[in-house]
Amino acid sequence: MLICEKIAEIRDFVRKRKGQGKTVGFVPTMGYLHRGHTALVERARGECGAVVASIFVNPLQFGPKEDFAEYPRDFDRDRRMLEEYGVDALFYPSVGEMYPCGFCTHVEVPGLAGCLCGRSRPGHFRGVATVVTKLFNIVQPDRAYFGQKDAQQVLVIKKMVEDLNMPVEIVAVPTVREEDGLAMSSRNVYLSPDQRAEAPVLYRSLQEAARVAAGGERDARRLVEMVRDRLSRVNGASIDYVEIRSLPDLKETERLDSPALLALAVRFGKTRLIDNIVLEV
Ligand code: PAF
Repeated sequence: MLICEKIAEIRDFVRKRKGQGKTVGFVPTMGYLHRGHTALVERARGECGAVVASIFVNPLQFGPKEDFAEYPRDFDRDRRMLEEYGVDALFYPSVGEMYPCGFCTHVEVPGLAGCLCGRSRPGHFRGVATVVTKLFNIVQPDRAYFGQKDAQQVLVIKKMVEDLNMPVEIVAVPTVREEDGLAMSSRNVYLSPDQRAEAPVLYRSLQEAARVAAGGERDARRLVEMVRDRLSRVNGASIDYVEIRSLPDLKETERLDSPALLALAVRFGKTRLIDNIVLEV
């Protein structure tokens, strides 16, 4: 696996592979990889002639009081995993390479970025949209792979790609879970043993609501209340949000007339976990 720290190097790699007629699949990450990431790589490997991954902990998408400095990092382990899963080239830029002195352009998708995680993390999706635009411009992939666990991120990126006519197909890959249902996340390592034991309640409460919706409940408020009620009884958990929003535009929804996103964010101490499920009607 080729490791490129410089934009010019990864561009050169992609240009050569495209010259050989290969489609390029791209898996952008912030590292500290888990099975959620390797599922993205496996999907890209199955669908594309060449696979590029990136590891870049993007300072732009962290708020001033968030965990940028403490975000878990383990480059050697990540590099080995990506190599094992068949990634052809890894783009591993420094902050200076991505945001040289004087950098000042940002990309915003305000319609979708102001609710759910965007409300509790102002500026987060602006940082994501900006770095993903840069990564797409640098790598110029044919397809890019993102986890459905970050459902709002996927919708923001799809809208940005559509609005700005970016020539890349966005592929959303189903959430990978631990055996007890907890969604894989690099932040799960922050959980204490007690918090880890409680955390599967997030997915269980989403599944319960999905079952009730499938059984005919159409009142979004009642479904949200059900989930909130379940979560509020969990020791040490504090609800950031539980909401049902329309797809793909994330508008507030009172009645379920078409598939909708039930999404939540819950804090266990300092660790904020997110999860979601699509309510089929
Ligand atoms: O989902 C992530 O890991 C990040 O938000 C992404 C897409 C790599 C952008 O920094």
